[in-house]
Amino acid sequence: MFREPGSIKQQYMNYEEFKERVRSENDIVDVVGRYVDLKKTGANYRGLCPFHNEKTPSFFVMQDGQFYYCHGCHRSGDVFKFICEYNHLDFPDAVKELAESAGMDIPEKFDYGGGGKSNAGLKNRLREMYKTSAEFYYGELYKESGSEALEYLKKRGLKKNTLVAFGLGYAPKSGTALYDYLKSKDYSDADLKESGLFSYKTGKPRDIFTNRVMFPIMNSSSKVIAFGGRVLDDRQPKYINSPETPIYSKKNNLFGIHRTRNANKERIILVEGYMDVISMHQAGYPETVASLGTALTAQQADIIKRFSRKVYLIYDTDSAGTQAMRRAIPILKSAGCFVNVVSMKPFKDPDEMIKSEGADGVEARINSADNAMFFEIECIASEYDRKDPSENAEFEMKVAEMISELNDKFQRESFIASISERFNIDKETLTAEVNRLGNEKTTGRGLIKATVSPSERKEYRRPQDKKKDEDLGYPDERNVLLALVKNPEIFNSVKEYVSVDDFSEGLIREIAGYLFDKLNNGSNIQAGEVLSRFDNDDQNDVGRIFCNDMYDNSDDETKNTFAAESLKNMLIRRHDEKCENAPPELLAQLIKEKKELSDITINIDQD
Ligand code: CTP
Ligand code: MN
Repeated sequence: MFREPGSIKQQYMNYEEFKERVRSENDIVDVVGRYVDLKKTGANYRGLCPFHNEKTPSFFVMQDGQFYYCHGCHRSGDVFKFICEYNHLDFPDAVKELAESAGMDIPEKFDYGGGGKSNAGLKNRLREMYKTSAEFYYGELYKESGSEALEYLKKRGLKKNTLVAFGLGYAPKSGTALYDYLKSKDYSDADLKESGLFSYKTGKPRDIFTNRVMFPIMNSSSKVIAFGGRVLDDRQPKYINSPETPIYSKKNNLFGIHRTRNANKERIILVEGYMDVISMHQAGYPETVASLGTALTAQQADIIKRFSRKVYLIYDTDSAGTQAMRRAIPILKSAGCFVNVVSMKPFKDPDEMIKSEGADGVEARINSADNAMFFEIECIASEYDRKDPSENAEFEMKVAEMISELNDKFQRESFIASISERFNIDKETLTAEVNRLGNEKTTGRGLIKATVSPSERKEYRRPQDKKKDEDLGYPDERNVLLALVKNPEIFNSVKEYVSVDDFSEGLIREIAGYLFDKLNNGSNIQAGEVLSRFDNDDQNDVGRIFCNDMYDNSDDETKNTFAAESLKNMLIRRHDEKCENAPPELLAQLIKEKKELSDITINIDQD
């Protein structure tokens, strides 16, 4: 669209309107095309799916419908979901990124950080200040006064381009270097105070980081939002970190996430420290992140899951690392991840291991990683003296409990087999105990725990799993919806024959309801916009219905026939369902009706 230079600021009624404007300014083919090599084939674009590994392209981008769908991993969404998933952003940040890239003015009155009160102005100034500070620290590393720090980083094996990629820097010895620098850039005292980069204990502001190697912490859009600083020797504290601010919440970020953009999405590696992330990336494992020096949070687990459900934990081999891993595993599992534990023994951490075994050592160790369940049981085993019969019995009970928590029978059986062997537990006894606990759950007090709620079930359904058609209604009704969304002009004919209630309950009926509503009001519809009305998981299913390359490449006559046939099949099927439950005296009448239905010709006029 033509934008006049210096045009007046656009006013928006509300966030919804702004968002829809952003959508219309960002053609999905352009946006996806920045990340995926797309080729036009017929009506649609096609490329290698960025969300799973594949060699032949099954990822479609529909320009007409403004949505994408992958036939391989069944992921689907609109332009916003693409940016969210690809860049691991939350929704408001994705809207903001697309607004910025379309050169739109971003109204300050909406709070894009997702928080409550609107302090967008302060946030923008803090982001700017952190960027300026990172540039300052970066520059200091390469000055004469930073030579000791640079030497330290080199001694730890970091290469020049790794230093640059992570924007590492140096905080000088003087206690006011950053303060003076930012003052010279005209930052206000109030903003400097909000930044958390200075201490005011003595009355006068002092830099909190002095004589430290600086690790900028960036969000997934590569914006600096905090710092960690390490001493150059073994003084304490080894690290200090900038505090939480309006632009930084520790629990929502992962160190290294900004460098995962082009990483293999088949797995994600979780480590403990800044140095671990950096040396893993340098060794060729950009799918590595760390949880910023605290226990892993549920929010971080969600970000991890969005990247990949297959998680490999590489924590320090000391007891602190083991404890941290034991806490992280259940959090990751309840986010819906598949968790594996990689051993670095006899080394302390991945950094040390890589120095000794090289980059290939990591891959080898990942290949022999263990399911987290074995690690958990090993930890429990170490708490018991298994030579003592009563302690051993308690240990075995705990193991049985853990196995009985698993939702699926095949998993339980395979774990029983391998655990009984590895931990020397009698297989029959273990099986019996697991079954007993399972029965207790379904018959007695444990019922609630054992029942998986629909939303939980959804969590455990992998997007890759090909869904059974029954879950998504019947082909005929799916095809009617497909034809409707692509050629809304057939609506008048369609509604003569079927109403919303004729569609299968669940997602299918919800889609039909939305389409019928919109079309009854005479509104325009677009597949991508319809998709966006559903939550993330459902979008994959909606996309599966709406993505039909063959339909898009057919001529109008074929489309007409397709729509008419689908509608007719739907009518006949509905009629058959009625026959099934009908009392015998009505049957003759129903059979006659069916004959009539089969004879009708439905003409769908697309003009
Ligand atoms: N950490 C911290 N404050 C400390 C110690 C640790 O915030 N006083 C956090 C840092 O994020 C650090 C992580 O915990 O990266 C792991 O700590 P540690 O294993 O001690 O540090 P490494 O990153 O392994 O650093 P190094 O290799 O330099 O010892
Ligand atoms: Mn460490």
